[in-house]
Amino acid sequence: EKGGFASFMDKEIHDQPQAVADTLLGRLDTEGRLTLDEMHIDENVLKSVDKIVVIACGTAAYAGQVAKYAIEHWCRIPTEVELAHEFRYRDPVVTEKTLVVAISQSGETMDTIMAVRHARQQGAKVIAICNTFGSTIPRESDAALYTHAGPEIAVASTKAFLSQVVACYLLGLYLAQLRGNKFRDEIGTILGELQSIPAKIQHILDETKSQVLALADRNQDVGSVLFLGRHVGYPVAMEGALKLKELAYIHAEGFAAGELKHGPIALIDDGQLVIIVVPSKRGRDSLHAKVISNIQEVRARGANTVVIAEEGDEEVDQFASEVIYVPETTTLMAPLLTTLPLQIFAMELATAKGLDVDQPRNLAKSVTVE
Ligand code: BG6
Repeated sequence: EKGGFASFMDKEIHDQPQAVADTLLGRLDTEGRLTLDEMHIDENVLKSVDKIVVIACGTAAYAGQVAKYAIEHWCRIPTEVELAHEFRYRDPVVTEKTLVVAISQSGETMDTIMAVRHARQQGAKVIAICNTFGSTIPRESDAALYTHAGPEIAVASTKAFLSQVVACYLLGLYLAQLRGNKFRDEIGTILGELQSIPAKIQHILDETKSQVLALADRNQDVGSVLFLGRHVGYPVAMEGALKLKELAYIHAEGFAAGELKHGPIALIDDGQLVIIVVPSKRGRDSLHAKVISNIQEVRARGANTVVIAEEGDEEVDQFASEVIYVPETTTLMAPLLTTLPLQIFAMELATAKGLDVDQPRNLAKSVTVE
């Protein structure tokens, strides 16, 4: 069933163009309007929502963190993201006007199930974003928005993550459409960009896999890796670090690039590998320039700087030991591309170390105890 790939993870990484395309499928009507048939929550309730709380664990929580940037930008609804096990036990403020979004690949993560139950007891409406049809979380929620990534076998999540981001974006656009925050043509443009993503992911798989493999091979003895990102690149950096911990048992941390000077820069020593996710030059304000200075700062202290940047961004070249280019897209869509090299890096590094990438030690695909 691995379809000729060395591992399920390798197959699932290559399934991602399809996973994203399938998650978009059937969710637009002939006029390009979003139609979420599964949205069994009264439109008036959705219109009155005054806060969104995303609850999830692990990789799914990072998908939620990416989505927060998009949902707040498009809908102007305050959005929090919280680890399900923390949410449940801290007496959170949840009312009938709170919309809780529970993200889970398996639909069986006990920490998330308990958080869903808690939220519903407080009167909140819960939407599940889930990859497993008929599992507990969607069954116990008010509505379910399924990611159509297909079965994910490898313990470390890849295609489920990208589909979760896509499903959250569809939810955000749907709420924006419903609440009239965005004009129709604006939503159409965003959806058009979303539809161009599968081909761009395929391009990364075709063009950069061997470069990332060589990079992983050269770095199989590293003791720690730091990941830096800003805006949506920040949760991407944390997801890249998580993949490396899970698969290669290497100490890794994802930091917000802006936080570097407030502490993490003390970690930089000669030869420290730092992987930096660079925002688009056309993106918000001056974030590109700020992240470029971060690259210079760590490089000046001896770091080995590997940069994920947008094609055509030649400015990064002079400060990076190596640049991995991904196709151009909008700021908010970038995580659907920049995550790919990080997934491949972790998988290839674990493979180079002779580890089982599908079944890492001490981990289970779905944790059904609290
Ligand atoms: C962890 C898995 O235990 O659960 C992670 O090892 C996963 O890969 C997390 O991201 C959440 O799982 P789920 O099924 O709720 O998305």
